[in-house]
Amino acid sequence: MTQESARLIDGNALSKQLRGAVAQRATALKARGITPGLAVILVGDNPASQVYVRNKVKACEDSGIHSVLEKYDASMTEAELLARVDALNQDASIHGILVQLPLPAHIDAHKVIEAISPAKDVDGFHVASAGALMVGQPGFWPCTPYGCMKMLESINYDLKGKHAVVIGRSNIVGKPMALMLLQKNATVTICHSATPDLKAMTLQADVIVAAVGKQKVLTADMVKPGAVVIDVGMNRNDEGKLCGDVDFEGVKTVAGYITPVPGGVGPMTITMLLVNTLEAAERMAGS
Ligand code: GUN
Repeated sequence: MTQESARLIDGNALSKQLRGAVAQRATALKARGITPGLAVILVGDNPASQVYVRNKVKACEDSGIHSVLEKYDASMTEAELLARVDALNQDASIHGILVQLPLPAHIDAHKVIEAISPAKDVDGFHVASAGALMVGQPGFWPCTPYGCMKMLESINYDLKGKHAVVIGRSNIVGKPMALMLLQKNATVTICHSATPDLKAMTLQADVIVAAVGKQKVLTADMVKPGAVVIDVGMNRNDEGKLCGDVDFEGVKTVAGYITPVPGGVGPMTITMLLVNTLEAAERMAGS
């Protein structure tokens, strides 16, 4: 018997389209004498962070956004980092500032993020950005949940009256994701490690966003037929292969739509960073 298979939401294809639009907007700004600029700060030598920042800088280059990568030794002090952030806040050629996390333990990450000017907070991690999202005012949305919203938009999915279940309650993904879904009139449930019966929740969901950081959090028996499944996870399986939080092979036989890992939410996160940086430059240019 041939089993039904969910339709894929291709993060690479959607990214290509959105990055093309970013490049066009960058060209338009340049014609007015403004080159959008992103500063990326990396402290220490976390191998995963090194890969992430390299990908971010490369994506900027490809989209006509000027980028500056500042790499510092893990011994950098908090005061030195705060001074760098302050200098970038004042730098008119820089429209977005991203401090790669995690930071070394002797640096208070919260203090550093709060030092970034909200007008340049393209990661959307500042409390001013979180507050703006909370009350539905203009600000910067965190890139990963923003990318998930774009994926739903790409399939013309109308969230109004739908039940969305978010698994995970991080400040970077779960909580902002829930607020974005709510803003689009979904009924939203946030599940987490203390939720007693996750399956009972996910079985009611029209949309499931899995953002836990653990493989096979969501399996086929937990999904209502036809549901849209968005996988934010980035894990390594037992063979060392990149995998998400969702049991892709099982869930794709039940879901209506599913995002793959790799090639799903991952590329969208960087794409939305480019979108936010462009947006920051346009706002500063008064357009
Ligand atoms: N570390 C892992 N993901 C991210 C991200 O999106 N932004 C920053 N600044 N650090 C991260």
